[in-house]
Amino acid sequence: MTATKAPIDRGRFSNKTVFIMAAIGSAVGLGNIWRFPYVAYEGGGGAFILPYLVALLVAGIPLLLLDYAVGHSQRGSAPLSFARLSRKLEFIGWWQVAICVVIAVYYAAILAWSSQYIGFSFTQAWGSDPEAFFFEDFLHSDSSGVTLDFVPAVLIPMVIIWVLTIVVMALGVQNGVGATSVIFIPVLLIAFGALVVQALSLPGASEGLQTLFAPNWAALLDPAVWASAFGQIFFSLSVGFGIMITYASYVGRKIDMTGSGFVVGFANSGFELLCGIGVFSALGFLAQSSGAAVSEVVADGIGLAFVAFPAIISEAPLGALLGVLFFTSLVLAGFTSLVSILEVVISAVRDKLELSRITGTLVVTVPLALISILLFSTTSGLTVLDISDYFINRFGILLVAMVSMLALGWGVRRVPWFAEHMGRYGSIPLRGWWVPLVMVITPLLVGFMLVLEVIAAVAEPYGGYSGWMLGVFGWGAAGAALGAGILLAIPKWKSTTPLEAPEHDEEVIR
Ligand code: ALA
Repeated sequence: MTATKAPIDRGRFSNKTVFIMAAIGSAVGLGNIWRFPYVAYEGGGGAFILPYLVALLVAGIPLLLLDYAVGHSQRGSAPLSFARLSRKLEFIGWWQVAICVVIAVYYAAILAWSSQYIGFSFTQAWGSDPEAFFFEDFLHSDSSGVTLDFVPAVLIPMVIIWVLTIVVMALGVQNGVGATSVIFIPVLLIAFGALVVQALSLPGASEGLQTLFAPNWAALLDPAVWASAFGQIFFSLSVGFGIMITYASYVGRKIDMTGSGFVVGFANSGFELLCGIGVFSALGFLAQSSGAAVSEVVADGIGLAFVAFPAIISEAPLGALLGVLFFTSLVLAGFTSLVSILEVVISAVRDKLELSRITGTLVVTVPLALISILLFSTTSGLTVLDISDYFINRFGILLVAMVSMLALGWGVRRVPWFAEHMGRYGSIPLRGWWVPLVMVITPLLVGFMLVLEVIAAVAEPYGGYSGWMLGVFGWGAAGAALGAGILLAIPKWKSTTPLEAPEHDEEVIR
């Protein structure tokens, strides 16, 4: 007689609130704080509301609901869920896992820089030239190639961030992933809310807001503005790269997934708007105090957080407080997103190898931590980060999102079935509007954006970096993610892993 092995305990969120908080924790991240304000400003200010809302309602929320439907109905990690729909689609799940690996290793570096800058805010360590300080004194940045010159000021916080992350991941779905968001998201709201109040009280804030919200309707004629709205929504809402599939697989059957999706989508966008207000009020102050126009001081990403904000902190009354609030918000928002990105990888490896939570966590996170530290705590870290972030967003996330919509809609033809599944306990009916969106309209739109992005990337090499750096860490990383997806889908599943979705259990989780 052969003993049958009990299936691994995949873990689960204890209730709907924890699930929603975890999903919001994943969505609200660096993309909201340091990318959205600039994307909105560049994309027509007040007029950007139109492409942004279209992107949210036509692509963001529909794709979020598709991710939910896949994970919630198949009850597996991204690769297992796709394999259950069809073995031929399993590579999409592994492709998403590989994209998460690329994002996780650089995301941790930004958290490490931000945590250092919490301390720097007290001493204004950047002195009178925050730009020179960040690139030269802090990162010792060298964009000429890959180096192994470690920067201790980055290495030490990176080790700490990874240790904390590993502890959280080892604690599991509810006590680690879920609990972190339940605690961090309210604290983030308080910290960022206080930042907005302080920023609004600064002289010049109203000019900043006028600059952000002044509508430039002509921008709407530029397809690149629409492409950036779609790109922003995908990254910001954490859709299309496995996170929401994984999280939805940890949720009870009778949860209202459609209502939850709208809550998460609007909460993320609401926070994004708050970020725009806080950041542009502060930029308005910077412009006024330096005698420049707001348009001359705007920045995004690294330039916003590590150059413009330090300058603001140096000039503002109670600058140290502003700095602590800003960098703490970055760390809190980023940490819950990093946790969600890693959960995609851990969940997949656990499902495939049938590993316990602790073993699965260690097998995934220790090598990733080492790669992350090796690549990003050296003097070439910034260059590698900037390139891989740009390329994986466009030619990773957008592409895999389009492929998954087409595969689910036309390959296995499951979208109407998903609508039925989601409708069973969902408060918002999907039939009628959602099915044509995810089967036809959204993939077409995303395909169009992708073509624009390819043309732009080929016409002008990104960031002026050398061809081989762009080839390896840009095109190479995005291509390797797809290659890894195909290769990782080859090994067979263990005979103990059912390849059909589990029967409906009637557990009720409220
Ligand atoms: N959704 C996460 C962010 O906005 C990944 O940064």
